Amino acid sequence: MDYLEIKGGNKLSGTVTISGAKNAALPIIAGTLLSDKPITLTNLPNVVDIRTLLKLLTMLGAKVSHNKTVATIDNSSINSTKAVYEIVSQMRASILVLGPLLARFKECEVSLPGGCAIGQRPIDLHLKALEAMGATIEIKGGYVKAVAKDGLKGAKIVFDKITVGGTENIVMAASLATGTTTILNAAKEPEVVQLCEMITSAGVKIEGIGTNELSIEGTGGKALNFKEVEIIPDRIEAGTYLCAGAITNSSITLTKVNHQHIRASIDKLEAMGCSFELKDNSITIHPTSTIKPVNLITLEYPGFPTDMQAQFMALAVMAQGESMIEERLFENRFMHVSELNRLGADIWLKGSISAVKGVEELYGADVMATDLRASSALVLAGLVAKGTTKVRRIYHLDRGYDDLEGKLSALGAKIVRKKEA
Ligand code: UD1
Repeated sequence: MDYLEIKGGNKLSGTVTISGAKNAALPIIAGTLLSDKPITLTNLPNVVDIRTLLKLLTMLGAKVSHNKTVATIDNSSINSTKAVYEIVSQMRASILVLGPLLARFKECEVSLPGGCAIGQRPIDLHLKALEAMGATIEIKGGYVKAVAKDGLKGAKIVFDKITVGGTENIVMAASLATGTTTILNAAKEPEVVQLCEMITSAGVKIEGIGTNELSIEGTGGKALNFKEVEIIPDRIEAGTYLCAGAITNSSITLTKVNHQHIRASIDKLEAMGCSFELKDNSITIHPTSTIKPVNLITLEYPGFPTDMQAQFMALAVMAQGESMIEERLFENRFMHVSELNRLGADIWLKGSISAVKGVEELYGADVMATDLRASSALVLAGLVAKGTTKVRRIYHLDRGYDDLEGKLSALGAKIVRKKEA
């Protein structure tokens, strides 16, 4: 197994290019199943999760050609509608094939993803919505078996809770349904917006894009014909590099970013004392030598993203004073706390709330990555910790960060990937 060895204390400088958003690319790749014509996707991040989903499509019979950031997917010869456990268990987002497969082929089987390190993460809301659209759903042998013999029908869906994946699955299903589907309490994350825009580019009418109320007029079963899609920049990767600049007290520039999408991270970094220079699609962070403490609560977009919570906690560890961080979206998303404490942090945790007392210094140690964003928080802490930090189980990082150690090294960090002896 690989691990990252980081020698802390180096300042960073220079420019880093932000990759395409993993969380935008995944639903878009699943959404290609709504089409029987080839489609090209560009600006894909070169990460394991993308390769996993492309592998799943290949297993379903798709013809895929993929080279790092570009993939052409031809779903004209799909010959299986079963998403097997071996793939779904590697990546929960595989559940995103449920809506498009059911809509296009009127039946499918998708393995239940089960829990994950950051909580239970059920898919009950996806299933309830598909049932409202006329699907019969059965759970058997660890699989969701969904059938809609006469095709899906438009329906009024009210999500009890805002769900990104649930909204994406239902938007995809609704685009081939008969009649109009309305989704109330829909997610409005930029990744949901890009999926909706891809579908409208194929002629489907969607109203309310970017709001909590969507209305989708389905094609009545007719497959879609998409135009080429360029994946939007990754707002979480961008936020992570801004935190890298802030924690190392370094001025760095990020290119290929969408300022609007990273507003919540910019606002919190400003509250912590950093300032910014924004140009077309780039942003330069001017850090502060005395980081101020911060209070933050994770929320749905445009609120502060749960996917940035761990990285801001690493930063709060180096602040002068006490920060409060509340996690509202996932019940178990604080596993980085004990690992950060191993590096010398002083974090107290009760339920969904943590109090982070700033410390003068961190000291390098061996730490274990537990999930994708927790891993990047440990890397950030390692960049400032005295001595050497070894971050193990970095397969989590490889799932979602495109060449993290390459990009950080190019900025001047001392970080190398090594193999366990
Ligand atoms: C997506 C992102 C993930 C991010 C999360 C929240 C992708 C591939 N992943 O995950 O990085 O952290 O949004 O911004 O885009 N829930 C239910 N029942 C359901 C569905 C969800 O109770 O049927 C709950 C979840 O357990 C969680 C909350 O709703 O507490 C939000 O989850 P959701 O928005 O669905 O997250 P994902 O789409 O899985």
